[in-house]
Amino acid sequence: MTKEVLYIYGAGGFACEVAFLLSKNAHYEIKGFISDHNKPGQMANGLPVVNFDYVQTHAPQCAIVIAVGDPLTRKKLAQKCSALAFKFPQINHHGIELSDFISIGAGSIICAGSLLTTNIDIGEHVHVNLACTVGHDVKIASYTTVSPGVHISGNVHLGENVFVGTGANIIEGTIDSPLTIADGVVIAAGACVLSSLNIKGLYAGVPAKLKKTFD
Ligand SMILES: CC(C)(COP(=O)(O)OP(=O)(O)OC[C@H]1O[C@@H](n2cnc3c(N)ncnc32)[C@H](O)[C@@H]1OP(=O)(O)O)[C@@H](O)C(=O)NCCC(=O)NCCS
Repeated sequence: MTKEVLYIYGAGGFACEVAFLLSKNAHYEIKGFISDHNKPGQMANGLPVVNFDYVQTHAPQCAIVIAVGDPLTRKKLAQKCSALAFKFPQINHHGIELSDFISIGAGSIICAGSLLTTNIDIGEHVHVNLACTVGHDVKIASYTTVSPGVHISGNVHLGENVFVGTGANIIEGTIDSPLTIADGVVIAAGACVLSSLNIKGLYAGVPAKLKKTFD
């Protein structure tokens, strides 16, 4: 089988983890990392770090996966790549558990050890990092980042560009009244969310309280 050429956008720690995640994937040949700040000859985990111009010139048909944790940066990079017709595969670690009743959008990454149950709708360029659980009837809109060890209970709807910090827990909503997280909300590491977060801002603590608002 001919493997599809793939570059990972980003060259930091998470990008290297995505290379690991893809290492047993039979469909893609990872050619390297893309960095907007690369140095000549730079390597990461044995792969070259190139700039975006290089990829445009040498691999204009390739697939790109964006491994940058910050939601808004990821959105900007996705829009740039999309305008040039690069393809975005959906990437899952081979060891994750997924039911048949899940849709996951282009560019999204589900990392090792995660468990997603049923009737789940995940948008584009969403990251679900290591060892997360996502319960029934959850929606996660595009560009949202779910950090390692997060537990999202059933009937929770996360908006776009949400950042959920490591080890946060979000308790369940109901079918008639889902627990909703507004676009652009940041949930600090270790927070426990007990009710909808409707104001765009940073929430932290147990239970999670609004610490500051964003424009
Ligand atoms: C929330 C976070 C992003 C910090 O954001 P920030 O805008 O720099 O926030 P600040 O440091 O100004 O803190 C604002 C307030 O929130 C509190 N706070 C921040 N993070 C907190 C946390 N994890 N738990 C409890 N309180 C927290 C601060 O103590 C401060 O409280 P105060 O106003 O009462 O003094 C960071 O603390 C965090 O939790 N990051 C998650 C990192 C992560 O999970 N990365 C994943 C890597 S794979």
